[in-house]
Amino acid sequence: MHLGAFVHETGQHVAAWRHPGAHFHSGVSFADAVEVAQTAERGKFDFLFLADSAAVSLAGTPESRGRMGKVVKFEPMTILSALAAVTKHLGLVATSTTTFNEPYTLARQFASLDQISGGRSGWNLVTSNNEDDALNYSLEQHPAHSDRYERAIEFAEVVNGLWDSWDEDAFIRDKESGVFFDPSKLHPLHHKGKHFQVRGPLNVACSPQGRPILVQAGASGTGRDVAARLAELVFTAQTTFEQGKEFYGDVMARLPRFGRSSAEVLVMPGLYPVVAPTESEAREKFDYLQSLIHPSVGIAVLEHTIGVHDLDKLPLDGPVPEMPDTNGPLSRQRLLLEQAKRDKLTLWELCLANAGPRGHVLTIGTPSQVADEMEHWFKEGAADGFNVMPAWLPGSLNDFVDLVIPELQRRGLFRTEYEAMTLRDNLGLPRPINRFHAARLAGAAQ
Ligand SMILES: Cc1cc2nc3c(=O)[nH]c(=O)nc-3n(C[C@H](O)[C@H](O)[C@H](O)COP(=O)(O)O)c2cc1C
Repeated sequence: MHLGAFVHETGQHVAAWRHPGAHFHSGVSFADAVEVAQTAERGKFDFLFLADSAAVSLAGTPESRGRMGKVVKFEPMTILSALAAVTKHLGLVATSTTTFNEPYTLARQFASLDQISGGRSGWNLVTSNNEDDALNYSLEQHPAHSDRYERAIEFAEVVNGLWDSWDEDAFIRDKESGVFFDPSKLHPLHHKGKHFQVRGPLNVACSPQGRPILVQAGASGTGRDVAARLAELVFTAQTTFEQGKEFYGDVMARLPRFGRSSAEVLVMPGLYPVVAPTESEAREKFDYLQSLIHPSVGIAVLEHTIGVHDLDKLPLDGPVPEMPDTNGPLSRQRLLLEQAKRDKLTLWELCLANAGPRGHVLTIGTPSQVADEMEHWFKEGAADGFNVMPAWLPGSLNDFVDLVIPELQRRGLFRTEYEAMTLRDNLGLPRPINRFHAARLAGAAQ
């Protein structure tokens, strides 16, 4: 089983920063970030995972805005580069959007992080779910869902091509002869497409792990096709085991269309665990954080998660209204509306359900109960592992590392030591074949 530590500054729960033990300076304190990364490494997590968006929401009332604990954060590539220096084995996965970046810049950043960390970087490809991000990138409105995905596919092809710019053995660095590299082992890309024109090659050397790991998060039909086409690791939000199993089977079934097999792809749903030595203590922990949610924050965060506005004008104890499809997080909107219908939730009950897990699977209980749930998903074809979402930091991450990891290890489900130095090798994913080598081999075989 593979595990990511999916951390938000202060914690995943909307009221995390109010917990007496919480890192409430997260997003400002480097020391807090170091503590979290080193705890994840102590737990032998495969990687640390950072989500991202590039806007502070100005929606809602000033009162609700002033209560939000997660408004400022470090830019992911910057903080992960710093964390690379204080960790040895932990993979470093940053979310970066194809909607507002240029592929050459992004390819450089991740290739550099890969060199700095000795082959531990991963790129979580997203198309941006936060409609406000567009306002910071010279646009009046968020590009349409389908346009974002079209750009994303070409974007990723360019990035992958740039990552193949240098052969592994391109550098000779022979002081005697004065030859630094073999020019026949350097490959310009010469890409010309609908969105991008990139000559290449990349001015960063070949990745120690072949290429950074390509993660993808996006779960609509189009999102699943993009996952099947490109992703080595699929991050997904699923509320129930049945949904998880359907998603897993569906993504795997799409792979052959893109010439790929299940050995090349891992599916890792988010998991929001609340764990304590006894079930009643775990329930108390869960209830305590829930009790700290201010109504205006609960509503504002739900609006953000499902990409809609003006829910604060509706009665909290009334039903969840019908609403049009969002141009933002479409799959998440559908997931949460389905959850509301299935569990017959009022608007406020949906806010409460969203406040920590945000549509990811919730599990509350003893280490053994949490491990049972994880084992069930893992063994019954719904997950290759989980992106674990600590409710508040550092407490919930410590709980998971101290209570659940030993139980998973006892069951032989999780490593007791890192197997390798690179993220790719720890994940057991195959090294990609450099496209220029593949082309040369194909030419030689003819
Ligand atoms: C599990 C998951 C995590 C995501 N994380 C981010 C994120 O951190 N930042 C972001 O801008 N978009 C994120 N997205 C948004 C997607 O890239 C995409 O824009 C949005 O979900 C709409 O596509 P979909 O309907 O195919 O899911 C995430 C989506 C999913 C499903």
